[in-house]
Amino acid sequence: AWHCAGTYRSSDGRGGCDGGSQRFGPSLSWEDNANLDKSKTLLWPIKEKFGLGLSWGDLIILAGNVAIESMGGPVLGFCAGRVDAADGSQDELLGPTARQESLFPCPVNGDCKAPLGPDTVGLIYVNPQGPMANPIPRLSAGQIRDTFGRMGMNDSETVALIGGGHAFGKTHGACPEGPGPSPQEDPTRPWPGKCGSGKGKDAYTSGLEGPWTTNPTQWDNSYFKHLQSLTWELYKGPGNKWQWRVQNATGALSGIMMLTTDIALLEDPEGSYQKLVREFAEDAAKLDHAFAHAWYKLATRDMGPVTRCLGKDVPPAQPWQYPLPAPSQPQAKLSKVRAEVVKMLNRSKTESAEGFFSAVPFARLAWRCASTFRATDYRGGCNGARIRFSPEKDWPVNKGLDQVLESLQLIQDRFAGRPGFA
Ligand code: HEM
Repeated sequence: AWHCAGTYRSSDGRGGCDGGSQRFGPSLSWEDNANLDKSKTLLWPIKEKFGLGLSWGDLIILAGNVAIESMGGPVLGFCAGRVDAADGSQDELLGPTARQESLFPCPVNGDCKAPLGPDTVGLIYVNPQGPMANPIPRLSAGQIRDTFGRMGMNDSETVALIGGGHAFGKTHGACPEGPGPSPQEDPTRPWPGKCGSGKGKDAYTSGLEGPWTTNPTQWDNSYFKHLQSLTWELYKGPGNKWQWRVQNATGALSGIMMLTTDIALLEDPEGSYQKLVREFAEDAAKLDHAFAHAWYKLATRDMGPVTRCLGKDVPPAQPWQYPLPAPSQPQAKLSKVRAEVVKMLNRSKTESAEGFFSAVPFARLAWRCASTFRATDYRGGCNGARIRFSPEKDWPVNKGLDQVLESLQLIQDRFAGRPGFA
């Protein structure tokens, strides 16, 4: 669910789990998505049972929610309504593809800039070993802030998600041999794992090895407690990749590890991540609240306004869904509004020396108001009439529209606010 939703980028609204296009290229074969074919195979019978009544996007996110709940984790709710894509073309611009290379090139893979979401094409956000696999936590913190920011996450959401997500599961890298061919290279038997049996203790996904906590199937804040209270030392794990272990550990603590991106939360040059690590270590309820809200945002950000969410578990509109106020009065009769507009246009015809000058700017206003809509994450458009406010009203392309809005204001006033400006 995290890797399906985590491709979302706020620059152009692409990515996210709506469409469920992680089932297709290019993200199907991303290095970071190794072994997710196994999770999808396990979900197959459920998809078959509900057929077209259940999209893959909804199934993947709902399964993530249920998994978190089953381990005692906090979940805010579920917004259903994702529609499956027919192929992977929606994700072409996430890369790696020729179109992505020509439109959004990344000259140094490992230092990709917005509008691309991650700093490495093929990863969800950042290199877990640190920038370009250099285990320097301070620099990794900067990359984390940059890439999580590109998907609209603030510091608190970022830290809650990383530490909350890593309360669960483990990294897999039993030996340096690798996961084997991706689905693109071998669609019949992708990622068999080249260490021993390739399964269980021999599994290879990222090449890093070990769990973050001593109880990785149970939700709690021990990730944060361990992170801040123990001394961590750098070493090369069995997969020959940089990771961190507890110095002089004995007993169960000798089995846990951290990634450079986890240690980065202790070495943020801005000092913000450290404060959040402390808060979440000391106050489990605070982590519950932050994680539940950030997880819902991560999973739902590409779905647009709350009105698009289906189902009984939809929580109240969240700030990032830019909710509109409920209408304060019943809708005005549109035939009457229409008559007022016609009257206004006729009046200005007779009052203006140039004749019908005044009709054209209203068509331009409507076009400018509606044309901000983007189909990727359903943001923009004339609903909300945000063209009246900054930043839209200040855009050079909208020059002069303030006067057109003023003339509509006269009509809106006449209906005492009933039509709504949009
Ligand atoms: C800086 C950002 C992050 C990095 C670099 C990162 C990196 C990784 C890596 C390398 C693995 C091991 C994969 C494997 O070998 O099996 C992993 C596992 C995992 N991550 Fe993250 N992660 C990040 C953020 C998150 C977030 C935000 C979540 C969810 C909210 C999350 C949830 C998980 C879970 C549940 C696993 C365990 C998978 C398993 O047991 O098979 N991670 N992560």
